[in-house]
Amino acid sequence: MKLSTRYLGLDLRNPLVASASPLSKTVDGVRHLADAGVGAVVLYSLFEEQVRREAEQNARLAAAGTESFAESLSYFPDAAGADYGPRRYLSVRERAAGAVPVPVIGSINGSTPGSWAGYARSMQDCGAAAIELNIYYLPGDPHICGRDVEQRHLDILARVKDAVTVPVAVKLSPYFSATAEMARRLDLAGADGLVLFNRFLQPDIDPETLAVAPGTSLSRAAEARLPLTWITLLHGRIGASLAATTGVEGSTELIKYLLAGADVVMTASALLRHGPEYAAVLLDGLCEWMGRKGYTAVDDVRGLLAVPIGADEAARERGDYVSALRRANSADFGPW
Ligand SMILES: Cc1cc2nc3c(=O)[nH]c(=O)nc-3n(C[C@H](O)[C@H](O)[C@H](O)COP(=O)(O)O)c2cc1C
Repeated sequence: MKLSTRYLGLDLRNPLVASASPLSKTVDGVRHLADAGVGAVVLYSLFEEQVRREAEQNARLAAAGTESFAESLSYFPDAAGADYGPRRYLSVRERAAGAVPVPVIGSINGSTPGSWAGYARSMQDCGAAAIELNIYYLPGDPHICGRDVEQRHLDILARVKDAVTVPVAVKLSPYFSATAEMARRLDLAGADGLVLFNRFLQPDIDPETLAVAPGTSLSRAAEARLPLTWITLLHGRIGASLAATTGVEGSTELIKYLLAGADVVMTASALLRHGPEYAAVLLDGLCEWMGRKGYTAVDDVRGLLAVPIGADEAARERGDYVSALRRANSADFGPW
């Protein structure tokens, strides 16, 4: 069975990628995931807030030292320069890259243009095969307009693309007025891949304690429907690679995403739920299905059920929606 796949211009042994999660926070974790058979690993993100906090701490230390000793800035050479980054993250990054035979992708998670570029470059210098930009931004301010939100994504991408030579993927939200146009603009702006989609941790409300509870549950298969819809619509329409993320519970979702047109399929919740070894179960399920259906290469499966090029995408979605409603209504409430 030929599972080899291209993603972001990289050769992967198969299309299953461990997405950013606590499983890829340590070198041992990354090794464990690679041993379990994944085609690539996305490291746990370096968060914009971490970067900012460390920068502030370094600046405070440098200022305090300066009052005591004129030469003390030299104790904190990075604090005065651009590269004051969380060294621990970069050291995991560097050691992980040498420890496994699969590409290790660095990940930065934030929402403002800030200092992504410097960190992306440091990650590249530490051996990152590619960079994933997780633009986790929910525009709650009612004064921010849609075009500004889109521009923020393009600005972040442009800064990082200017700073690195390795491929750059953007992990984005599904909540744009025109998601397909946003995907096309990111593609034209040089994104090597789009990761669809960020899974926002929507908070819950506990009526008994009158408290807002953080939404940190693992995903379920039904959540794959939204990325699946957009991947069927984007496959073949943009040059950037497409990575599916959210809702892989078993090999069925992995297969569905490939049929929709994903170049790779990412998983976090399933591996957190069952352990990294579950990657082998997912891949075995894919091979078993391919054998049963007579496919010998994953490239032959990819995009078979994408919306055909030339179809009227909006009309097709609308048509599917109306006929689904009609079916539901006639089953439950008599004739439409
Ligand atoms: C506990 C946990 C931690 C995560 N940490 C990160 C992270 O650091 N950076 C990131 O981009 N995504 C992070 N994610 C999101 C996952 O990479 C993934 O996109 C999301 O969980 C949807 O995939 P899934 O349905 O396979 O879990 C995290 C998810 C979980 C459950």
